Amino acid sequence: MLDPALDTLLLPFTTRALVWPKAGQILFLRARMGQALMQPDVPRGRFLCRQTFQPFAKELSLGQLALDRGPENAAGPFPMTLVLPPRQREEARYLLAEAVMATSPGGVIVAAATNTEGARSIEADFAKLTGDVVSLFKNKSRVFWVTLDPERIDPALVQEWLALGAPRRLTSDARFLTRPGLFAWDRIDAGSALLAQHLPADLAGSGADLGCGFGYLSAEVLARCPNVSELALYEAERLALDLACENLTPLAGKVRLDFLWQDVTEGLRGSYDFIVSNPPFHTGRADRPDLGQAFIIAGAKALKPGGRMFFVANQHLPYEATFAAHVARHRIITSTDGYKIIEAINIQAVSAR
Ligand SMILES: C[S@@+](CC[C@H](N)C(=O)[O-])C[C@H]1O[C@@H](n2cnc3c(N)ncnc32)[C@H](O)[C@@H]1O
Repeated sequence: MLDPALDTLLLPFTTRALVWPKAGQILFLRARMGQALMQPDVPRGRFLCRQTFQPFAKELSLGQLALDRGPENAAGPFPMTLVLPPRQREEARYLLAEAVMATSPGGVIVAAATNTEGARSIEADFAKLTGDVVSLFKNKSRVFWVTLDPERIDPALVQEWLALGAPRRLTSDARFLTRPGLFAWDRIDAGSALLAQHLPADLAGSGADLGCGFGYLSAEVLARCPNVSELALYEAERLALDLACENLTPLAGKVRLDFLWQDVTEGLRGSYDFIVSNPPFHTGRADRPDLGQAFIIAGAKALKPGGRMFFVANQHLPYEATFAAHVARHRIITSTDGYKIIEAINIQAVSAR
């Protein structure tokens, strides 16, 4: 897949504006695998990659790149840190501050983002934190870097931006810890709230929440459906899954919870009486209906005979044909405020009912 931010990140090494450090590990924050890393002069054997999104972490592992387990476990400081900051402003600021903390004085920090991710404002933030930066643009993206001079760093700003990565209580619903960068991190998503309102109280037995985020839908299942005995929470973003674990454990009572750091599009690990999901529908700004469709297929394959699925989706997303191809019956329970709630019943249910 094309990755213009990653290609542009390595541009200064191609133009020889930068050289790789002669020794030491190179920290790569929010690392992604891609063709650009396979160039012969890239010292990827010395990369230490941090990536909490499971499909990307898996690609890095398959490419033989080393993964670390997070800031608390990282060795350092590093002579060079590479960063692919995301569009979400607070999370990008947190990552830039983390890069400053991880890099040795005189070391180099290199960051890149696409224009649609807000490259210009990320570069401005980077300059505010570290002093003058040098930049290049290509591929509708910008790469910018700085040689770290401790005299130019604003320590108060570094601390302020590091704090942005910390979990905090959701103001509108104190059951939940959340953090910048997660889906709907500062609110309950309106689509998920609509799905919760339409969950029948008779959901029972073992269930799964596909793409659980910080755990809102699962918490609603526990609150509304007293006959649930087990709930598996699937989520690809480990930062979200860790918070779901903190949020749901105190609410579980006798219900057994499983927290699974997993790419749902690769299939589920168990079989379930019911499944709920607000599936992902884009990466960056582009609509990705294939993701939601893969969630529907994974869910349909994992439903026990007679099992039911409840999905919420933006009204324009083309999911009906996928439901029609993989379950016996489906219906739109409601279609309102830009969302639709779809109930689907497993194929064996038709003869069983
Ligand atoms: C639309 S959000 C819903 C979050 C939460 N259930 C809610 O209702 O607020 C979709 C979630 O799916 C996760 N996700 C994205 N791709 C995934 C994948 N391939 N496998 C599992 N989870 C994924 C995202 O990290 C995100 O938390």
